Amino acid sequence: MTGLLPGMKADELREKYLKFFKSKGHAIIPSASLIPENDPTVLFTTAGMHPLVPYLMGEKHPGGKRLVNSQKSIRTTDIEDVGDHWHNTFFEMLGNWSLGDYFKKEALGWSWEFLTDKKWLGLEPQRIYVTVFEGDEDAPKDEESIQIWKDIFKTVEIDAKEGDRIFVYPKEENWWGPAGVTGPCGPDSEMFYDTLREPCGDSCEPKCSCGKYVEIWNDVFMQYNKTADGKYEPLKQQNVDTGMGLERTTAVLQGHDNTYETELFQPIIKEIEKITSKGFKDDNETTRLMSIVADHIRAAVFILGDEKGIVPSNLDQGYILRRLIRIAIRKLKQLGTEENVTVQISEKVINTLKHIYPEIEQNKKFIFEQLKLEEEAFRKTLTRGLKEFEKMCEDKVIDGKEAFILFTTYGFPFEMTQNLASEKGVEIKVEEFNEEFKKHQELSRTASEGKFKGGLADHSETATKYHTATHLLLAALRKVLGDHVQQKGSNITDKRLRFDFSHTEKLTDEQKKEVENIVNDAIKNDYEVKFEEMTLDEAKQAGAVGVFEHKYGEKVKVYTVFNPNTQEVYSKEVCGGPHIEKTSTIGYFKIKKEESSSSGVRRIKAVLS
Ligand code: ALA
Repeated sequence: MTGLLPGMKADELREKYLKFFKSKGHAIIPSASLIPENDPTVLFTTAGMHPLVPYLMGEKHPGGKRLVNSQKSIRTTDIEDVGDHWHNTFFEMLGNWSLGDYFKKEALGWSWEFLTDKKWLGLEPQRIYVTVFEGDEDAPKDEESIQIWKDIFKTVEIDAKEGDRIFVYPKEENWWGPAGVTGPCGPDSEMFYDTLREPCGDSCEPKCSCGKYVEIWNDVFMQYNKTADGKYEPLKQQNVDTGMGLERTTAVLQGHDNTYETELFQPIIKEIEKITSKGFKDDNETTRLMSIVADHIRAAVFILGDEKGIVPSNLDQGYILRRLIRIAIRKLKQLGTEENVTVQISEKVINTLKHIYPEIEQNKKFIFEQLKLEEEAFRKTLTRGLKEFEKMCEDKVIDGKEAFILFTTYGFPFEMTQNLASEKGVEIKVEEFNEEFKKHQELSRTASEGKFKGGLADHSETATKYHTATHLLLAALRKVLGDHVQQKGSNITDKRLRFDFSHTEKLTDEQKKEVENIVNDAIKNDYEVKFEEMTLDEAKQAGAVGVFEHKYGEKVKVYTVFNPNTQEVYSKEVCGGPHIEKTSTIGYFKIKKEESSSSGVRRIKAVLS
C-alpha cells in the first residue's frame, strides 16, 4: 500500500462519533488530563473510563447519565517495542458511557449501527466478528450478549454462530478493568474487523495476534467492583464503558494495515524520512525503527504538553517520559542520525493534533525546551558509553554484566551492543546478559508491586481526606504566597499528598508554618464542604480556581469549603470530587517536604495524622 488511500479522516471519524452519540442523548465531555488526578495506582490515563471512575461507582456526573468523548490515553506495556502495526503508546480513545442508564442491548445495538450504517462508518457487516465473555467463578457466561449479537446479525441475514462469528473467551480476552488495582470492571464484548488477509493457520480467529482481525471497539459492561482482596462485588449501578481506538479505526477505514500510514502519523514519518534520508518502506527494519520514533515522540509531546509540568526524570511519569525520548533517540541513532532532531520531529506531531488538543500548541516552548535538554544530555551519555564499550572490548569478550552496564547506565539496547560487537569481531555472552536482565526485571517488578501494595481502594476514606486536605492546602498557599499560585499537579496515596503548584521561589520556614497553621485552623473550625453544578463560565465568575481544561461549555462541579456559622468561603474549586463533608475529620496536617518540581513549579509533600 502506498501513500494515503481515500477514506474517512481521523477528524471526521472523531466528529461523527461524538455526533452519533449526541443524537442518542449523550453529553459531549472533554478529554481529561493524561495524568490521573488523585489516583496513585496508575501513572497515566489508560482509557476513557479512567477519569470517570467515581461516576461509575455511583457519583452523579454533571453531564448526566450518558456521556461521550475522545480521551487522550497512554499505554506503556510495549514501550521497548511498539513498532507493530496496531499498537500506539499514545492514542485517542473514543468512548460512550452509560452511568447506570442503558445496558447491553442499547450499547451493542448502537455500536453496530455506528459501524455499519452508511450514514456513519458504513463498514461491511460480513467483515465484523465479535467476542464475548465465556464465564468463570466470578461472573457467568454472557448469554445475553450472545443472543443480542445473534439478533443483530440476523438483520443482515448472517446466521451468527458461536465459534464462527461470535467467539467466547475467558477473562484474559473479554474482561476489562479495573484501571488501577481496584475499582469498576466487568465482562466485555469486542468487535473485530477482518482485514481480509490470509489466515495465519487453521486456528486463526479474532484473539490471535497475526493481524488479520483488528479489534476496533470494546463495549464493557461494568457491573462489578474489584476489591483490594481480589473479590468481585456487584456495583450499585450497571454501567457501560466503551472504547474505540481512533488511530486503528481510521487505518481500517482507509484500508491500511497499520496506523502509521494514516494522516495522524504520515507528516511525522515524512520528517523522519527527510532527516535520515531513508524511506519508511525501504525494509522491515527501517519501517519498525521509524514507527517507534514517531510513536514515542508523539507520546512524549502529549505528556510534556499536558499542563502538569511533567519533565524527564527517574521517577514515575517522568521516568516513562525519559525512556520514551531515549528509546526514540537510540532508534534514530540506529537509523544513522547523530544530530539533535527530536524538536524538529515534535513540531510535526504538534501540527497533526493542535486543532483538537490546543494544549500542545500552548505548551510548545516547554515541549521544545525539555526535548532539547534531554536529547543533548542523552547523546553525551551515549558517547561516553561508546568509550566504555571500546574499553570492554580490549579482552575480546563482553560478558553479561558488561553488556548489562551498557544497557542500564549508558542506555545501549542489547541489539546495538550485539551489532557493535560483531563489527569488531568481539564475542558477546548472550545467555549471561539474559540472566542479568531477568534478575533486574524481577527486582523492578517487586519494587513496583511494593509501591502499589500500600495502594488502597482508590476512593477509600483516607484518600478522600487527603483530597479535601489538598483543597485546603491550595487555598492556604494562595493566601500566603498570592493569587498567582495555581495547581500544577496532584497525587494522593493513603500515606501522603503531593501537590505541585506554580511559584518560583523556595518557601521560607515561616511561610511553610503559616500555610500549615491556616490549614489546621480550617480543620479545627470544622468547615463544611458542599458542591454545586454550573457551567465553566459561571464557575469562573464565582471565583472558583481549578484546572480549567474543560471544553464544549459543559457543566462542572464546584466544591466549596465554608464556615457554616458565618457562611464565609474558605476555598472554591472546580473538581470532580469526592470529598469529605466536614473538615474536622481530616486530622492534623503537616508539610514534610517542599522542593522544586520543574521550572517555575514547586512541590509539597504533606501528611495527615
Ligand atoms: N475501557 C475499555 C477499553 O479500554 C473500553 O478497552
